[in-house]
Amino acid sequence: MLQQLSAEELPKVEKEIIDFITTCTTHEELKKSMLYSIEAGGKRIRPLIVLATVRAFQKELTSPVYQTAGALEMIHTYSLIHDDLPAMDDDDLRRGKPTNHKVFGEALAILAGDGLLTGAFQLVSETTLSPTENVLLIQLLAKAAGIGGMVAGQAGDMAAEKHQVALNELKAIHRGKTGALLTYAFVAGGILANQTEYVIELLEQLGGHIGLAFQIRDDLLDVVSTTEELGKQVGQDEKSEKSTYPALLGLEGAQKALAEELEQAELVIRQLAEAGDFQPQLFQELLSLFTLKK
Ligand code: IPE
Ligand code: IPE
Ligand code: MG
Ligand code: MG
Ligand code: MG
Repeated sequence: MLQQLSAEELPKVEKEIIDFITTCTTHEELKKSMLYSIEAGGKRIRPLIVLATVRAFQKELTSPVYQTAGALEMIHTYSLIHDDLPAMDDDDLRRGKPTNHKVFGEALAILAGDGLLTGAFQLVSETTLSPTENVLLIQLLAKAAGIGGMVAGQAGDMAAEKHQVALNELKAIHRGKTGALLTYAFVAGGILANQTEYVIELLEQLGGHIGLAFQIRDDLLDVVSTTEELGKQVGQDEKSEKSTYPALLGLEGAQKALAEELEQAELVIRQLAEAGDFQPQLFQELLSLFTLKK
């Protein structure tokens, strides 16, 4: 089911992004630079969560769903371009290709990030949703991407290099830099599926667990996976002396923490299943994407 959703529906999200960038950008090199990082691929996990959430509540996938999912992937892609810059993680490989700044130079990479970020808000603002729903989606996206969410988490991540932070602080960093956008994916899906405040609250809890699990897994993969498999250079966290779960708790401790977050997520999915016309199967399948094996 998830596989089918991914194969049939994600191309529509990609088309939404590519058409938007192609029509709206008036500078050729800037357009090329943004499309380079978008078209490099990636797992598209965030837009997939938006689509899966709407479908789990048995609602149709309409244009506003694709636009919201596309905007989220644009913001995520911007965050990767900036994350890879020499002033941040200084990485040369992303999504199996040279990083944006390696191909287009630092100035254009920064601007491509700026363009994807601001463009994302333009894209969500152009949906046919009611003004109330539209403003809510925009406001939550700004909160998730911004100074109380991803940007704050990234600031925390940079400040936590070269010294060990306490587990609670590390959790807060991970929840910001990675959890906030993943949580938005679930919550936006719930809003687009017209769910109650109670259900949205459960989706927010689920996003919190999945978001943390996702970054713990990313930290683990940086140690145990390969550059070929990930399409990005492994071993970078140790090299930059990042604060990570494996650095703080060891491999086993990090694996245990990942399993615990996924168990918590499972419990929330059960609560969602009791809350209404929710079909848990897609979410069960989603969960399997966050284990270490896949
Ligand atoms: C990488 O995200 C950055 C993190 C938040 C860990 P993804 O692992 O989703 O990257 P892509 O989109 O598949 O390239
Ligand atoms: C980045 O975390 C999270 C973002 C907001 C982009 P990482 O720095 O661990 O992501 P990778 O490993 O470079 O993909
Ligand atoms: Mg980083
Ligand atoms: Mg990085
Ligand atoms: Mg990483």
